[in-house]
Amino acid sequence: MKTIFSGVQPTGTVTIGNYIGAFRQFTELQYEYDCLFCIVDQHAITVQQDPKELSKTIRSLAALYIASGIDPEKAILFIQSEVPAHAQAGWIMQCLSYIGELERMTQFKDKSDGQEGVSSALLTYPPLMAADILLYNTDIVPVGDDQTQHLELTRDLAERFNNRYGKILKVPEIRIPKHGARIKSLQDPLKKMSKSDPNNRATISLLDTPKQIEKKIKSAVTDSEGIVRFDEQNKPGVSNLLTIESAMSGKSIDEVVSKYDSLRYGDFKAGVAEVVINHLTPIQEKYYDLLESPELDSILDDGAERANAIASATLKKMENAMGLGRQR
Ligand code: TYM
Repeated sequence: MKTIFSGVQPTGTVTIGNYIGAFRQFTELQYEYDCLFCIVDQHAITVQQDPKELSKTIRSLAALYIASGIDPEKAILFIQSEVPAHAQAGWIMQCLSYIGELERMTQFKDKSDGQEGVSSALLTYPPLMAADILLYNTDIVPVGDDQTQHLELTRDLAERFNNRYGKILKVPEIRIPKHGARIKSLQDPLKKMSKSDPNNRATISLLDTPKQIEKKIKSAVTDSEGIVRFDEQNKPGVSNLLTIESAMSGKSIDEVVSKYDSLRYGDFKAGVAEVVINHLTPIQEKYYDLLESPELDSILDDGAERANAIASATLKKMENAMGLGRQR
């Protein structure tokens, strides 16, 4: 069976962008592949985090993975910092990376632009991400399209390692959903919907109440044409809402468009809000049940143990190939 690996950062609350770009793919794929899903807390600390808040968010993200449909009997769910091989292999990947290629990463440029006191780890974040993936002999990485450049670097680093030290690492493929690979901000549909957007109305979180969802979708930026049709170039706001409904309902874009044929934007937005609320309500119920349960800890304990076994074996191979330590 082929292996899938993906990760989500425990920062802020997961948005419907993360859900549609990433989580939805995970739940679809978990029965066809050996899956590992990671809460990448070491990535989160590349920018300063409040320790109490971070540990809450880690638990919350674990509960959201399961509430969204990840089956812990099937997939391995674990926390990155509980598997030490990630940081160790991350160091090896850093040694293989060139400063120039890391400086070219658009996420690094965006996050460091105009900031003071940028941590060096913001630059060396992609080699850690490469380590996350490569430790599990991953075949496929399901992500949203903002991770494409990081995945290309991961492939380059795997090939570079193999050329220098022998064929140890598998070169993974990226998997991006056909629709919903980049859900846009509700307030600026030319920008990606992002957890860190300071404008609260720009994003819908998986834990928003029905009222909040209705309000945010009602105030979503559209256009003045007044016709519901899919045209990402000229109608990015309307197309974004259509994509969201299509992803949440499982209907094609065409089916969703025909549902709103000759309706006004007000009715269209109310319809999209209803679909989003109906989709998120059972997820939220499951989430609140899980959050304080001891079951969540045993799932994460089990995940860390299973992930450790795989990751430490690959790390050992990498270290042996490079001549690190004593041969084992
Ligand atoms: P993160 O935590 O920013 O996002 C998690 C996942 O959500 C996707 N995503 C989106 N998809 C569609 N529309 C959007 N607006 C949107 N915003 C985010 C992301 O593409 C991602 O799939 N570097 C990664 C975490 C990571 C990782 C890994 C991922 C660390 N190691 C190894 C895969 C494999 C990140 O910051 O994702």
